[in-house]
Amino acid sequence: MTAELSAHGLRVEFATRTGRVARALDGADLIVRAGEVVALVGESGSGKTTLARALVGLLRPAAGEVRWDGRPMNRSARGLKALRRQVQLVLQDPLGALNPRHTVYESVAEGLRIHKTVAHSGRSETELVAQALASAGLRPPEALFLRYPHELSGGQRQRVLIAGALALQPQLLIADEPVSSLDASIRGEILALLLKLREELGLGVLVVTHDLGMAWNIADRIAVMYLGRVVEAGPTEDVLTSPRHPYTKALLSVVPEIEGLEPVVLRGEIPDPTRIPAGCRFHPRCPALASGEADAVADDCRGTRLAILSGEPEGHRCACHLVASREEAPHDPASRAAT
Ligand SMILES: Nc1ncnc2c1ncn2[C@@H]1O[C@H](COP(=O)(O)OP(=O)(O)O)[C@@H](O)[C@H]1O
Ligand SMILES: [Mg+2]
Repeated sequence: MTAELSAHGLRVEFATRTGRVARALDGADLIVRAGEVVALVGESGSGKTTLARALVGLLRPAAGEVRWDGRPMNRSARGLKALRRQVQLVLQDPLGALNPRHTVYESVAEGLRIHKTVAHSGRSETELVAQALASAGLRPPEALFLRYPHELSGGQRQRVLIAGALALQPQLLIADEPVSSLDASIRGEILALLLKLREELGLGVLVVTHDLGMAWNIADRIAVMYLGRVVEAGPTEDVLTSPRHPYTKALLSVVPEIEGLEPVVLRGEIPDPTRIPAGCRFHPRCPALASGEADAVADDCRGTRLAILSGEPEGHRCACHLVASREEAPHDPASRAAT
């Protein structure tokens, strides 16, 4: 069966210094399967990193559930260890994530030792480390064994982190902002590497990014998050060429690679998750509500909660009162007959 990691109505809360509870995730649904690249996008503060960490069991949800292959995550030490071998989290900021005193060889071998992978593989540790480095595009691998992180370029460090993950032969990678600290020239290479791993190893990849242009380039599906919840999701092509949610439209309007869109400047900042607005969580910043376009549903926008958007991979879905009201409106009988 295809490996599948999923979040169902996940809620993750943090206590803050002011004594209020920050609900960093507030009903997040998402499914990632082996063999597909899913991009999780949204402004900084929307909960992307929190969702990535909750998916690998680093955070315990206050409500909702993470499932691996359809079964609730086993949170025993053993269960989590097994999950983290199959679902590898690749951190952002490769300089911070690599131990400066460890050679490349040691960094990649560390996971193999923790998970005792060598004993099960019938191959030597050196072979497995070399193979992982080569898969991450570091060739010849032996030339890097004894190097330290400070002797490498940013792109090489990111590849070493990816090699450390690949050494364990996972089924899914979760990459949190994998290229945000890299120069533009190297970004494309790392993204191409992620795509190659999907092709050659059948890996599933969840790429967390605030960059919609990057999502466009590599993802099969996209999930747009706002204030702890996915507000629009679907095949990348559909979501990015015909976005439905006013938030997605605003994010897209300022992507430099996309021409011909009138830039929509969102008012204010993403709210603090200790104060999630009533009704639609996006309503205080919604351009459609501000312009009068959503007048017919304005009371709902301000006061009626939206259902959680299902994480099912099929279809293009959006959580928005205005979009829902248009979909419910009677269709032109001629076009209905045609479909
Ligand atoms: N450990 C924490 N304690 C308190 N608040 C947190 C913590 N981690 C994240 N948050 C808050 O949760 C929200 C989502 O954060 P995060 O998941 O890092 O978003 P993103 O990765 O999309 O930028 C932010 O408002 C952030 O301040
Ligand atoms: Mg983040």
